[in-house]
This record gives sequence, structure tokens and C-alpha cells, in this order.
Amino acid sequence: MRESLNMCWWPRHFRGNAKRVLPFLAAAMLLLAGCHPEHYQSAVHPRGPAADSIATLWWFLLAVCTGVFTIVMALMVGAVASPRRGETSPLGNRFIVIGGIVLPAIILVGMMIYSLEATVALRMPETRLTVRVVGHQWWWEVVYPEHEITTANEIHIPVGEPVRLEIRARDVVHSFWVPNLTGKMDLVPEHDNFFWMQADEPGIYRGQCAEFCGPQHAWMAFKVVAQPEEEFKKWLAAKQRPHPELIAPEPRRGQQVFFEAGCNACHAIRGTEAVARAGPDLTHIASRLTIGAGLMPNSRGALSGWIVNPQAVKPGNLMPPTRITTEDLHALVDYLLLLE
Ligand code: CUA
Repeated sequence: MRESLNMCWWPRHFRGNAKRVLPFLAAAMLLLAGCHPEHYQSAVHPRGPAADSIATLWWFLLAVCTGVFTIVMALMVGAVASPRRGETSPLGNRFIVIGGIVLPAIILVGMMIYSLEATVALRMPETRLTVRVVGHQWWWEVVYPEHEITTANEIHIPVGEPVRLEIRARDVVHSFWVPNLTGKMDLVPEHDNFFWMQADEPGIYRGQCAEFCGPQHAWMAFKVVAQPEEEFKKWLAAKQRPHPELIAPEPRRGQQVFFEAGCNACHAIRGTEAVARAGPDLTHIASRLTIGAGLMPNSRGALSGWIVNPQAVKPGNLMPPTRITTEDLHALVDYLLLLE
């Protein structure tokens, strides 16, 4: 730790005071983290009923705890500053019984009852749509079993209705969390957990793995795209069809490169012979917002860089560098960007 603090960019003045300055820096960063104008990953800006009951509970607990803290601190300061310091309180043992046992018991039981009520509000409602989410190190497989759609790192849902989530992990324990829409639920290997979320406003919400699962845990993010019903139906219909490009009589050069370079060993593209499931399904890769599980925007440059050396941007992920000529790389990326 000390060595990293002595790196050249660290202001000389701070070096000796690092230990004292760090807590303030950490607090400032936490504060700044809450400043994103769109609040697209914020538990205190709920956009659905489940997140709403969690946020209300959070504010309630904060208010009660702030009140208790303020009163206790005021009493403590009063006691320390009192000229009758050291004397027994005129209230005697009654003060300890009421202030130390009765009041805390009432407050704690009240908080427990309110928490239980919030938990009841999180019960799974009736749903029409199921989405299966499988956590991998470090990306999210997203399946619409009723519609035979598989995608990755992006969950589209209709606005205003609860969506059932069936979640599990492929390798280690992960945790599913979309703070604006719902609470957290663990993804466990070989075990299904059931959960739900609902968005009441159209928008793009950020989700994040909330359980440390290896060095790239922080880059295990995803997007939830909440769309009005009609738009969502269009999305479903578009994603159910393989892209026309895939069934064209003459395969493009890029498609040949995809197989020659061995991409099909890990990735599937529906409508072709690539059916592997070790990496994300690429059938509609071009229409996704990000690549690398929220790591980079889905652009030609980012995609090319990722293909050539994914280890440079996300060390430790399972994809090896791809050794192909520049021409082949361009052809491959051209092809992938057609798959909307
Ligand atoms: Cu997956 Cu942390």
C-alpha cells in the first residue's frame, strides 16, 4: 500500500499524511459517485416497485439511526461537559433501564417489523415473461427461453410489468444487482434462484455483479433496457430471426475468417454452424450497446482491439488473442457489425 502511495503522481505534501487524507478521499469519491446526473445505477433513485420499497426502507432506517445517533451524541457531550461530572444521575437506574433497554428494544422491534413488511413487498408477483440469466467469469448470458433468444450483457424488458428472473452461475458465485430496479440476488453454480424486477419508466439502467468473483469482478456489468411494450415486441421479433446476412447464399469473407480463426470454438451465431456456448452468443452483436460486459462502447475500434488482444483491456478473461492479418480483422469486424 505504502509503495503505491509513493508513486510519482502522489503530491509530495500528502505522502506523510496519506493515512489521514485517505478516508477523506474515499468519502469524497463515494459522494461524487452519487452525482451521475441520470442516476442510472442508484438504489436511492428507484424506478420500479421492488427498488422503491427497498429505497423507502433505506431512508426510514437512515432517519431512525440518524435520530438515535444525534440524541446519543448530544447526551454524551452533555455528560462530558457537565459541571456535575462523576456524580450519579438524579434519575438513577431508571435512566439506564429506559434509555439503555426499553427505548432501544422498542426502536429495534419497530425497525424489524418495518423491514419484514418491505421483504413481503418483494414477493414474486404474477409474471408473463421469463428471462434466464447465467453468470460467467466475467459476463452475463441472457436467455429468453420462451422466445429462443440468447444474448449477452443486455436485458431488454417491457416497461410497467414484472419480469421473472431465473438466475444461476456457470463457475463461481456472482450476484445480480440492478439498483434502480430491484435488490440483490446471488447466482449460484448448479442451482437456480428465482427473482423479479420491474421498470416503471423507459430507460437504460446499469446492473453490476455485486459479489467479488475474481480480478475482473468490477467489469462484470450489464445494461437493462426498459422499453414500451410495442418497442419491446419489435425487439423480440427482430432478435428471434437470424440476421438475413447469415443465410445469404455467398458467405462474406468475414464469416469465413470467423471460422478460420476458430471463433466458433467459443461463440455461437444462430443460422451458421457456430453453436458453442463458452463465450457470448454473437447472433446480434452489432445491436448491443457495449462489449466486454460493460467495458467499452460497441464500436468498430473497440471491437477490433478486443478481438486482437482481449487480455490487454480485460486481463484474465477466457478469450485468447486472435492472430489474424489486418485485412482479415477488417473483414471480420465488418461482418460482426452487420449482425444487428
Ligand atoms: Cu461476478 Cu463479481
